Amino acid sequence: MQRRRLGRGDVEVSAVGLGTWQVLDVRGREEEARHEVIRAALDAGITLFDSSPMYGEAERVLGDALEKHGRDRATVATKVWTSNDREAERQIDRALSFFGGRVELYQVHNLVAAQKRLDALEELKGEGRIRSIGATHYSHSAFPDLMDVMRGGRIDFVQVPYNAADTAVTEEVLPLAAELDLGVIVMVPLGSGRLVRNAPSEKDLEPLREFGVETWAQALLKFVLSDERVSCAIPATSKPERAKENAHAGDPPFFGDEEREYVASLARRA
Ligand SMILES: NC(=O)c1ccc[n+]([C@@H]2O[C@H](COP(=O)([O-])OP(=O)(O)OC[C@H]3O[C@@H](n4cnc5c(N)ncnc54)[C@H](OP(=O)(O)O)[C@@H]3O)[C@@H](O)[C@H]2O)c1
Repeated sequence: MQRRRLGRGDVEVSAVGLGTWQVLDVRGREEEARHEVIRAALDAGITLFDSSPMYGEAERVLGDALEKHGRDRATVATKVWTSNDREAERQIDRALSFFGGRVELYQVHNLVAAQKRLDALEELKGEGRIRSIGATHYSHSAFPDLMDVMRGGRIDFVQVPYNAADTAVTEEVLPLAAELDLGVIVMVPLGSGRLVRNAPSEKDLEPLREFGVETWAQALLKFVLSDERVSCAIPATSKPERAKENAHAGDPPFFGDEEREYVASLARRA
């Protein structure tokens, strides 16, 4: 699995990470099965795990799985998501307790109370309890505000939506990230599952085989990872074998413009 620098600074991440929205929001007997997803991901070379207090039980379940299977092999990216200062402190304390007293990448989720949350995250960075600070937003309409925060110089990376059917981020956000040397983490690389529902035929995937592509999900992930401005894509999955499948998309060679246009055309039909 290729590793990539997360923008300025010395943090390196695996090209493919793992999202935890919905898939780790489980309790009780289901937890053990989801721990196996984390184990499979780590074994396949995935190092970045993205979570949030917005994802129900996900931070806790991720923390337990990493404690079992290798916290030291992981780069944890979680988020703070509230307009309430006391609640923000509580979210951060809980996350630090789940992840062994440190969180490598801390993000302001959906820019909620961004400037105040950045104050707190900068303090934690000064204390050495986090390494990098980021901001996320899923909505195109929030890109102007996200770009203001990027220009403010207080963040090291952004997390944005990008996939073969949604390339809005390429217009202004990615050029600005490149100009500022910010890392880029890509959410919803499979369109929250919509893009993988109707896979193209084996024959349609034939021209992509020489790039190591065996499945449609890998083609979609490679589409995103072939954009050199992207540090890491974080597909979510509840299945260990898919974590491994997705990880392979982080192996070179990557697509050129022609293959990217081909995958986008298949995605329009899917
Ligand atoms: N505002 C924000 O900050 C924000 C917003 C949205 C998302 N995110 C982050 O981005 C992550 C990814 O986004 P997402 O979870 O919405 O969607 P996604 O990663 O685009 O798609 C996930 C879906 O794809 C399926 N899938 C995964 N690998 C597959 C494969 N190899 N073959 C077929 N199906 C596959 C999964 O189902 P199975 O479980 O059945 O495999 C799941 O339903 C989230 O988990 C979260 O960490 C952040």
